[in-house]
Amino acid sequence: MVLWGQVLGALLVILVGYLCLPGLLRRRKPQEPPLDKGSMPWLGHAIAFRKNMFEFLKGMRAKHGDIFTVQLGGQYFTFVMDPLSFGPIIKDTQRTLDFVQYAQELVRKVFGYQPTEGDHQMVHSASSKHLMGDGLEDLNKVMLNSLSLIMLGPKGWSLDASFWHEDGLFQFCYNTLFKAGYLSLFGYTKNVAQDLLQAEELFMKFRRFDLLFPRFVYSLLSPREWLEVGQLQRLFHKTLSVEHNLEKDGVSGWLCYMLQFLREQGVAPAMQAKFNFMMLWASQGNTGPTSFWALLFLLKHPEALQAVRKEATEVLGEARLEATQFFTFKLSALQHTPVLNSVMEETLRLAASPTLLRAIQKDYILKMANGQEYLLRQGDKVALFPYLSVHMDPDIHPKPTTFKYDRFLNPNGSRKMHFYKEGKKIHHYNMPWGSGVSICPGRFFALSEIKLFILIMITYFDLELMDSDTPVPPMDPQRWGFGTLQPRHDVRFRYRLKCME
Ligand code: HEM
Ligand SMILES: *[C@@H]1O[C@H](CO)[C@@H](O)[C@H](O)[C@H]1NC(C)=O
Repeated sequence: MVLWGQVLGALLVILVGYLCLPGLLRRRKPQEPPLDKGSMPWLGHAIAFRKNMFEFLKGMRAKHGDIFTVQLGGQYFTFVMDPLSFGPIIKDTQRTLDFVQYAQELVRKVFGYQPTEGDHQMVHSASSKHLMGDGLEDLNKVMLNSLSLIMLGPKGWSLDASFWHEDGLFQFCYNTLFKAGYLSLFGYTKNVAQDLLQAEELFMKFRRFDLLFPRFVYSLLSPREWLEVGQLQRLFHKTLSVEHNLEKDGVSGWLCYMLQFLREQGVAPAMQAKFNFMMLWASQGNTGPTSFWALLFLLKHPEALQAVRKEATEVLGEARLEATQFFTFKLSALQHTPVLNSVMEETLRLAASPTLLRAIQKDYILKMANGQEYLLRQGDKVALFPYLSVHMDPDIHPKPTTFKYDRFLNPNGSRKMHFYKEGKKIHHYNMPWGSGVSICPGRFFALSEIKLFILIMITYFDLELMDSDTPVPPMDPQRWGFGTLQPRHDVRFRYRLKCME
């Protein structure tokens, strides 16, 4: 008995030593960025980081300046905070920084998907073909029909739609965009009413997964939540299975292209379902929340709403529905909305907070814009967090926390693309989609669908906040670094269809 205790104790010491030793022994070498290991062995700064990444990085920047290395859960991350120095990392001309390998680890854990060779390239080819250019025009039509179906019901508008409806704005936007986006990309069956019910049910499961997601990624779930995530994953795999796919018509060209590639690679059906789950997540996790922020900012800024409405009337004419009609819409109008485009850029500046991560494959010299050179160590990760270092930089964007709907417009009404830091023109002045090899391949479709939704909301509907004095809710700090932020609580609003009596 006593002996066992000693053996276990010794094992524990060895284990802890093994985990902590690299951290304890690590010293800053000449030419390396400032190193901050934190006070906890192995964990380093993980607790503060997970609690509030934005505040943590702000503190580190104040302490160490524009580049520093921190320990987080046994791994070392070098954060580069000077956007004038992003170029070499994003372009990676020396080919020493790797995105794919790190992303694959995450994908395995979160979606159960085991990537195959060439996946990353394939997703980007499929997206260039079907989520941009001509392919996007087709998808926009499908999206318009889906939005009609969801917002008006399968038979076109009924009298019911012309009464006031009250809802949470976040809930409403996320629910609508999710269902429309899901059905447009993953297809319909012959029974549309059934499809709508199924999409509604899937959204509820999706939201549950979404709420657990940040702590799941950080391995902070309670045992019960852990079980729940497992159940949700299995449910998604089943709902998005290959057999169910076969029953569907009108699966998007985007998904068909990708699934065909996987079949040709000999990827098993069960693994294809996991791939579908990953794509559901990538395509639906950010658009709903982004639409929420855009509509909320418009409702809180009457001058912005008025400008967008004016532009909408110019490109679309007056919109009024007759009984049993669907939305009609000149989709080409989406190309002629500089004011709404600026609203979207501004919304994403304020609400999208991605982290860009690259694994350092061999020791690497990073030359900063000020000429200073730093040695980045093989095996570490290099990380960018543009929300803090770009979006909220008052030099690039004066009064950075204020919503200015025309921030991205020139005085003559064209798109503004010239921004400066320290008097130098800056290329990366807004980075909601990431950048370089990992840039979001769905960004053009995302913008189209959100713009379509907003144009429908402001032309076909009356809408207002229940309490016009209600402040913009604070961001949920758990979601820093995970794409579009979510509000800490919802905001009540009401809407009703404008229609011909
Ligand atoms: C406002 C909405 C959206 C935002 C803010 C957004 C943002 C992002 C960001 C920041 C990444 C890069 C992640 C990284 O570097 O690891 C990403 C990746 C991705 N996004 Fe989006 N996204 C949006 C909508 C969409 C839509 C609608 C689709 C597809 C229909 C989509 C498909 C993807 C895919 C497939 C990837 C992974 C690409 C890869 O592996 O390189 N996204 N997105
Ligand atoms: C509008 O103004 C910007 C700079 O303010 C300029 O670069 C652009 O060429 C102008 N466009 C037109 C159509 O006049």
